[in-house]
Amino acid sequence: MINKKIEDSFNDQINAELYSAYLYLSMSAYLNSIDMNGMAHWMNVQAKEEVEHAMKFASYIVERGGRVVYKAIECPQEAWESVLDVFKGGYEHERYVTRRINDLMDLAIAEKDYASQVFLQWFVSEQVEEEASADEIVKKIEMIGEGRHGIYMLDKELGKREAD
Ligand code: FEO
Repeated sequence: MINKKIEDSFNDQINAELYSAYLYLSMSAYLNSIDMNGMAHWMNVQAKEEVEHAMKFASYIVERGGRVVYKAIECPQEAWESVLDVFKGGYEHERYVTRRINDLMDLAIAEKDYASQVFLQWFVSEQVEEEASADEIVKKIEMIGEGRHGIYMLDKELGKREAD
């Protein structure tokens, strides 16, 4: 049986993961509005992954005999300055999610909940990837600078992203 503190915190994380999906969908909509359709596709795939993350937490809560509660999802930002601004925002958001996962791990350790520590380990590793992929795109955009051809090529490349 899952303890109440862990159950509440994991339910909050479901909300945070669904907010992440909502934020990436909003980024996708913005990118579509400036004709960066490949980048918009990349963000849609990212949003789907976030829903999967939320579902992993939900399944785990149920498996441990807890109760899943869905709360209101905050409204995401709807416009950005540039594609660089979008991906910088994505990177900063992933760093925030990493801090949240680390806090959950701290809680699972404090509560001596060994099963939750093992469960969270997957997210600890996933966050390394999440930060690295967002950071890589930010660096590429910074390298390209104002070059339209480079941005066009990057848009094409990101449009090939497949669901994991
Ligand atoms: Fe679910 Fe991108 O962290």
